[in-house]
Amino acid sequence: MKYISSPKKPLHFPVMLKEVLKISQADKGGLFVDCTFGSGGYSNAILSFPKTKVIALDRDLNTKIYADKTKKINKNRFTFFNIKFSEINKIINKNTKADCIIFDLGLSSLQISNLKRGFSFNSKGKIDMRMGLNSINAQDVLNNLDIKTLSDIFKFFGDERDAYKIARNIVKLRKNNPINSVPDFVKIIEKSKKKNFKKKINISTQAFQAIRIFVNKEITELIEGLINASKLLKEGGIIIVVTFHSIEDKIVKFFFRNFSSNQSRGSRYYPDKNKTRILFENYKNIILRPEANEIKINNRSRSAKLRFAVRSKDEFFNPKDLKNKFSHLMELENIYAK
Ligand SMILES: C[S@@+](CC[C@H](N)C(=O)[O-])C[C@H]1O[C@@H](n2cnc3c(N)ncnc32)[C@H](O)[C@@H]1O
Repeated sequence: MKYISSPKKPLHFPVMLKEVLKISQADKGGLFVDCTFGSGGYSNAILSFPKTKVIALDRDLNTKIYADKTKKINKNRFTFFNIKFSEINKIINKNTKADCIIFDLGLSSLQISNLKRGFSFNSKGKIDMRMGLNSINAQDVLNNLDIKTLSDIFKFFGDERDAYKIARNIVKLRKNNPINSVPDFVKIIEKSKKKNFKKKINISTQAFQAIRIFVNKEITELIEGLINASKLLKEGGIIIVVTFHSIEDKIVKFFFRNFSSNQSRGSRYYPDKNKTRILFENYKNIILRPEANEIKINNRSRSAKLRFAVRSKDEFFNPKDLKNKFSHLMELENIYAK
C-alpha cells in the first residue's frame, strides 16, 4: 500500500509509519488524534483501517489542501483543524476520549523544501521560519533581540558551541545591514565558526534549529501539547511521540518516565515515588529508531526516535514537575510575551 500523499510534488515520507501503525493498533479501530497532520501520511494510513476515526491538527494552513483531499475520501471519519497542538483541548470536548494520540514533531519535507519559507540554509529568500499561527518571525528575532538572549537561544535550543560568537556578530553587523535573508544569516554563522571538516552536519544546522525552535515556541508547544493530550486519552489509550532532536526527546522521556508507575526518583524534580496517582502504566523506556532501509530512502528519518506510553486508569492531574523541570526553556521562548 502506498501511503505517501500527493497533491503534486514534493513528497513527505511519513517517518516510522510501520511502527506507528503497529503501536497504535490502528487495525483494531477507534478514535485517533494526529496532532501533526503534515501531508497526511499517518492519518491516511490509519484511515485505511475501516473502524478508525481521525481528528487531525496542523498549525500550517498549507496542509489544508492535503486535509481536504483526505476529507473527500473519508467524509464521516475525518476532521481537520488548523490549530496548534497546545490547544488541542479547545477543539476536543473533554468527554471525548481518544484511543491514540500521535505527535510527529518538527518540520515536514514540504516546509523545508519551500525555499520561500526560509527554513533551509539553501534558500536565497527572506529569513522567516514560521510554521503557522506565529506572532514573530526569524527576521524579527535576529534584528531585535539583545546579545544575551540570542546567545542563550543558540546555546539552549541549538546546543551551539559558538553561541556567543554568533550572537555578538549578529548584533555588530545588523547595525549597518539588517539581517533580512537566509544568506545574510548564513554569512554571519560562517564568519563566527571555524570549519570543522570532521563534522558531518552543515555548519549552519544548529543555529538554524535554534532560531526555528524559538520562532515557533516548540518547547512550550510540546510541553503543553503532551499535558493536554494526556487529559484526552482514555484508560489504556496510547500516546506516541516521534522526536528529531535531543531536547524534544529529553522532555518526552522525562514526562513518560516520571509520571508512570515505575518512575525513578533520581532528582528533586521527580514526583514522589509514593504518590498513588500516575498518568502512565509501567513505562518501559523503549526507544524505537528507523530501520536502515528507511534511512536509505529517507535520510531525514535518521535522527528520529519514537517513544510511546499507555495512559493509566487514574484521573488526570496536572504534572507540574514537567513545567518546573523545563521552565528555563519555556521562559526563554516566551521572552517576547513579557
Ligand atoms: C514532521 S511533519 C508531520 C508529517 C506527517 N506525520 C505526515 O505523515 O505527513 C510535522 C507537522 O507538524 C506541524 N506542527 C509542528 N508543530 C506543531 C504544533 N505545535 N501544532 C500543530 N502542528 C504542528 C508542522 O506544521 C508539520 O506540518
